[in-house]
Amino acid sequence: MDARDLVRSVKVVGTAQGARALRSAWRRRRTDARALPRVGAERARTPGGATGAEPRPGGGVIRFERSSLWVRVAVGGAVFFGWDGAGPEPSYALAGACPEPDPRVDLEPDKDGGWRVVSERMLVIVSRYGAVEIRTPGGVLLRRDLPPRWWEGEGTQEGDGGQAGTDAGTGPEAREEGARSAYARWLQRTELPPDAHFFGLGGRASGLRLREGTYRLWNTDPGPFSPGQDPLYITMPVLMGVADVGTHLVFHDNTWDGHVSLREGEEGLGSGHDRPGRCEVRMSGGPLRYWVLAGPPARVLHGWAALTGSPALPPRWALGHQHARWGFGSAREVRRVAEGYRARGLPLRALHLDIDHYRGHRVFTVDEGHFPDLPGLAAELRGRGVRLVSIVDPAVKAEPGWTVYDDGASADVFVRDGRGREVRGVVWPGVSVFPDFTDPRARKWWGELYAERLAQGFAGVWHDMNEPTSFAAFGDPTLPLSARHALEGRGGDHREAHNVYALTMARAGYEGLRGLVPEQRPFLFSRSGWAGMQRYGGTWSGDVETGWEGLRASLSLVLGLGLCGVPYSGPDVGGFTGHPSPELYLRWFQLGAYLPLFRTHAAKWAGRREPWEFGDEVLDHARTALAERERLMPYLMTLAQLAHRTGAPYVRPLWWQHPRDRELRECEDAFLLGDALLVAPVLAPGVRARTVRLPAGRWYDTATGTAYEGPGTVRVEAPLSRVPVLARAGAAVPVTGRDGSTELEVWPPASGRTGSGLVIPDPGEGWDRPPPERFTVRAYGGGERGPRVVVEREDGEPVPYRVRVRRG
Ligand code: NOJ
Repeated sequence: MDARDLVRSVKVVGTAQGARALRSAWRRRRTDARALPRVGAERARTPGGATGAEPRPGGGVIRFERSSLWVRVAVGGAVFFGWDGAGPEPSYALAGACPEPDPRVDLEPDKDGGWRVVSERMLVIVSRYGAVEIRTPGGVLLRRDLPPRWWEGEGTQEGDGGQAGTDAGTGPEAREEGARSAYARWLQRTELPPDAHFFGLGGRASGLRLREGTYRLWNTDPGPFSPGQDPLYITMPVLMGVADVGTHLVFHDNTWDGHVSLREGEEGLGSGHDRPGRCEVRMSGGPLRYWVLAGPPARVLHGWAALTGSPALPPRWALGHQHARWGFGSAREVRRVAEGYRARGLPLRALHLDIDHYRGHRVFTVDEGHFPDLPGLAAELRGRGVRLVSIVDPAVKAEPGWTVYDDGASADVFVRDGRGREVRGVVWPGVSVFPDFTDPRARKWWGELYAERLAQGFAGVWHDMNEPTSFAAFGDPTLPLSARHALEGRGGDHREAHNVYALTMARAGYEGLRGLVPEQRPFLFSRSGWAGMQRYGGTWSGDVETGWEGLRASLSLVLGLGLCGVPYSGPDVGGFTGHPSPELYLRWFQLGAYLPLFRTHAAKWAGRREPWEFGDEVLDHARTALAERERLMPYLMTLAQLAHRTGAPYVRPLWWQHPRDRELRECEDAFLLGDALLVAPVLAPGVRARTVRLPAGRWYDTATGTAYEGPGTVRVEAPLSRVPVLARAGAAVPVTGRDGSTELEVWPPASGRTGSGLVIPDPGEGWDRPPPERFTVRAYGGGERGPRVVVEREDGEPVPYRVRVRRG
């Protein structure tokens, strides 16, 4: 028990739930002590010298004395590396079948007994001792993976002998010679260019740029968190390295607990020597297999979406403002809040009902005493353009006689321990069981339960507590590591299934909703997840602490997740805990207005979060932010479509198009919203003007019209009424005009330049695939009122929108 455990257990003593959490923690500890393999002496192993190689489609297999490495270039350019016989499948991250090998690629002998694979996007050189260099096609080094090291234990275990580690694959190609002990843990050490910066690893609060340190790969409910805390709800072995020589993304396809240690390099040390950047990935089990994608950031994310799936397209209403609260407590309060928005002319697209609308916190129930006619309430709100979204927790109260529990138990879909007993944990409803979403039968069963939510009138779902969380007075607040999971029929335990629990729950929910309402795009977002979660929906910050640090952390989370392929997310505006000052609330609200998920939310013990609760001045400025959000809807919908089609996040770091600009790589306090807008939120108290680092090109302050030339740093006004937003010269931004129709807001290109714009006119629901409309923006002459600006449609058709040229 460490100090945090102690604090936790002292806090819970005395309450019934606390006593359960204490018992549950003991039970978890006992179960694992009995069932987990006892690792004896371990042997260390490295690959040894190369002994030969054989070509395979897209590359080949290189044999070493004590291992083998499969290098396989896929169509599209992603390269797979599988040690010890690991193949790309099965995988929870890949969307469907593994991409085909690139037939143009061969394995060739290299100098000094090594091997090389030459492909369009990458040159791979494998040394005769198993070091792997990944170079640009021109030969510049992006990363050097040193020969890996394994430690193999002679595990002994009661019960079934533990099939952990089997995700190295069971397919014909996947599990071939050299597959080792199920309990091998491993280490891979990598050197990177000295100027490389690191991004990603899922949702991290400490900063957009990952600083030196060790990051754990284990989805965790940290409780209300602030920037120092790690890990959080979504961890992913997805790391982006950005250096002058190029950008690449590496994905270790391994769901086990692990750690990534990063150390930034240094240039020109002493006599001009560089110290390379370092990355160490240590996993406690599972295969050593990874994918590398290289190229400009947009291409890397495109490749990632091709590999792991297109981000789900939210319905249009989910791009508008949403309001939640843990503790509305009654239909009357829900109506009061909806009316508060309406009466003040504040646009609102959805209200979210938290666990307090359940009967005794039981999922898929309604507290009819406080919510007597939920379908009626939903219909009434719907009539005013406000949808209802329901929280859905995975834990099912273990209560014989209650249908959801009884049905699940008789269908045998709950997680069991090594002795075949249902695993019990403690969550909001008390002692609970957990569906095993890694079992296709459980997913189907669960997905069908969403019919009840739809019948209650809900239009979307909000998955929570799915790390999975089980309250524990001490130790890890999750299921026992020895809990058994189906893992799609392969069988294994929670060590392997934990990190994909939420991902597979999202799959169950998404497929359930698609089956129940095939004509509608599901709206689903989930607190936890893993690589590939974007296929099913988005996420949110979780319980970010209220404070300026929490505000900054919210931005880091959204940007970082975008670089891991999860473009739709946003924070609890105002923070989850406590009472934000009016200024903090307003600045959070103004930031939220430019993030994909724009939702106010707070804990039941926290202060209010409605915009009118902070005085008239805040209300006025919040109204401005909401109006701007509404005005930008056609642009946001276009960005959602773009994310769906190309994997590019709506919200991007400033270096997105200029990854070689080192100053931009340092910037964490501003971001790009699509190609056209640069948002510089206010992230500290008392700030009424701020500096902004601009990428190359001309930028207009959208409030004052002042033009600035990038690259460079400028100081712009940031009054309480708004946060600075700059528009790229030449941009044509689709916005909602005063009459409600879409118009193009055009910012004149710099002289001698042309600009462009894109509109994807999405109707907002359904599955039609509207063709993109592309526009070119040209400027002629320079008269007193500035140049004459002409917008043309690229296909020569007339421009179907009113064009409004903004002048400086
Ligand atoms: C934890 C979630 O992160 C939070 O958003 C929610 O309000 C509470 N659970 C209660 O359901």
